[in-house]
Amino acid sequence: MSEEDQKPRISETKDGSTTLYSPVFDQHYHNPNGAVAESKIVFFETPGLLQALQEQNHIAIFEMGFGTGLNFILLKSYLDALENPPKVDLYSVEAFPVDPDTATQFDFGEELNQQHPAELLHSIFSDAKPGTNSFQITDYLTLNLFIGPFNDSPKPDQSIDYFFHDPFSPDVNAELWKPDVFRKLKAYADESAVLATYCAASSARAAMAVAGWKLSRAPGALGKREMTLASLDEKNLVGFKRVNELRLVERYHQGDFD
Ligand SMILES: C[S@@+](CC[C@H](N)C(=O)[O-])C[C@H]1O[C@@H](n2cnc3c(N)ncnc32)[C@H](O)[C@@H]1O
Repeated sequence: MSEEDQKPRISETKDGSTTLYSPVFDQHYHNPNGAVAESKIVFFETPGLLQALQEQNHIAIFEMGFGTGLNFILLKSYLDALENPPKVDLYSVEAFPVDPDTATQFDFGEELNQQHPAELLHSIFSDAKPGTNSFQITDYLTLNLFIGPFNDSPKPDQSIDYFFHDPFSPDVNAELWKPDVFRKLKAYADESAVLATYCAASSARAAMAVAGWKLSRAPGALGKREMTLASLDEKNLVGFKRVNELRLVERYHQGDFD
């Protein structure tokens, strides 16, 4: 595949917002039924982050896969709408940053477009260099963007309250769904932390369970049956149907997911 053919391409989702399609991973960056709607449900509403933004003074978030920057733009828009926004540090990693010119074509829907996200993302993608980049976006929002593979990324300098686990799916992006990855994330986590992912695959849940995360299932977004929430302490998963981690660990060691 030539370099030009490998470049992610703009694609429209059913709620009118755009996403990207990656020819390398042969996958869209978001649910084709609605990029913005999916991000809101999976990463903000279901894990309780939306409520925490209104109630807490300081929140640290870790995102696996900055991608189009949509989760970051959504976070900024939720914070901008608050009278007293908390201080938020977003740590995100991205191995294959989007070309700045592609970012100018993003359309995240009327509500988010008021923030001129394409311009902000164009400048972030233009300025970001390999390694750690720190952008003071507003008085209350800092973006710490690591450009490079997750394996090479440093531990955040504070414990993490919410994780957006948002790689491509395990069948095409397997290295980010292994127990070692979830062990590393566990070492980043505050004891009250909640990790959210759109993924409900048993193999992914097993990798989390092997790494010592407690798990629960939640209704999936936009036509998907389920998503997954994880935490180090099951009391952070109250209200959700729990997953049997012991059984998954057993199946993992039997080789069911090899
Ligand atoms: C589903 S997309 C993320 C969508 C993103 N959160 C958003 O809001 O647009 C997955 C991202 O993970 C990145 N990725 C894949 N493997 C990676 C790795 N080993 N380290 C860091 N990033 C990786 C891809 O380049 C892609 O941008």
